[in-house]
Amino acid sequence: MAASVLTRFCINKSKDSIRFIQRRYRVKTKWAATRPTFPATELALHNFDTSYSIQLRDLWPSIRVAMLSEQKYGALINSFSSAPNVITELEAQGCKDFISIDCTRNEVHQSSLDSMTPHRDSTELDPAALQPSMSPDIKCLVFPKGDISRFNPARPDSSGILGYYLLDAASVLPVLALDVQPGHTVLDLCAAPGGKTLALLQTHSVNHLWANDLSGSRTMRLRRTLQSYLPKEFLEENKIHITSTDGRQLGMTEEKSFERVLVDVPCTTDRHSAMVEENNIFKRSRTKERQKLPLLQTQLLLAGIQATRRGGNIVYSTCSLSQLQNECVVQQAISLAQQELGITMQVQDLRWWWKLWPEAYPTAWMSVVCAAYLKSPA
Ligand SMILES: C[S@@+](CC[C@H](N)C(=O)[O-])C[C@H]1O[C@@H](n2cnc3c(N)ncnc32)[C@H](O)[C@@H]1O
Repeated sequence: MAASVLTRFCINKSKDSIRFIQRRYRVKTKWAATRPTFPATELALHNFDTSYSIQLRDLWPSIRVAMLSEQKYGALINSFSSAPNVITELEAQGCKDFISIDCTRNEVHQSSLDSMTPHRDSTELDPAALQPSMSPDIKCLVFPKGDISRFNPARPDSSGILGYYLLDAASVLPVLALDVQPGHTVLDLCAAPGGKTLALLQTHSVNHLWANDLSGSRTMRLRRTLQSYLPKEFLEENKIHITSTDGRQLGMTEEKSFERVLVDVPCTTDRHSAMVEENNIFKRSRTKERQKLPLLQTQLLLAGIQATRRGGNIVYSTCSLSQLQNECVVQQAISLAQQELGITMQVQDLRWWWKLWPEAYPTAWMSVVCAAYLKSPA
């Protein structure tokens, strides 16, 4: 009975009353024709202005400028290539390895640890416990601060292996934070197009790497990247397993299998969304997908937690400043891991990390500003 009433009448809400009117007399709002269409980049920027001006307060204007400035690339040196003089030639152009240059690192590290101490909650690691030893094998060269010169395309060696891979310099930070040690089995849950996978392999510590991505076409890109940067023999050694599956399932199927898990989730890709119209997640047609991101991110992080062995580490990273996609996701995933899986995680906020690399700043702001490092107690 109630259903038949609902199909014949609809509710008309006016200012202070609700009336039922027959469906055939209602005037349907024509959203598609009457709603103004704004470029997705404008919607993105409006959204960021509204939320980040509250979240980041005085910092937002300068971060906004950084976000709208030309992207600064880094050249991730490919140690599998025998192309001669790659580093020397880049240094001759004024580039430096941003991972090793900062001599004040320890000073900054200490002050960063001090300044964050009062804000820690009970689930956070003691910052002193987070001293990932940075792999000396990862080298990423950048032009000096303020210099946005473009890199020449990488040259191949005699076997066709390219000398460096261009990426946002800050993309290397989650890999450094993962702290891969010799013999580790590593899962890269959302791996395509493969910049971080390649950086993981530069450590020469990975015993076995599983690189996964849901998108078939992006997984093909990942495969092609690895073929251009790794010797054929290395790829034939079965050290790398590439799959294209929903990462949310790997938590159950690969439970407690990895010492290190990288969860580099799909997100609102803030810089891209503010600058590029094509494939923009702020397009009206992608509204639902955008709204579901925090749920997807939580499920992916939970899967990553489940796939980690006791005592292992997980790094969660996004290229968004959104608290909803960063802190909230991490908090939600660790509480679900506790309640549903009985796994207790300790969490470390990695925001202080970007202070270690002033040369890469402000790039670091944009890519991994809210990465988190989670540790499963041994
Ligand atoms: C930020 S990108 C990863 C970038 C990559 N880590 C790199 O460094 O090149 C996020 C990726 O997550 C993938 N993705 C989206 N949903 C997924 C899911 N349910 N499971 C696994 N991967 C997913 C997307 O296809 C996209 O390639």
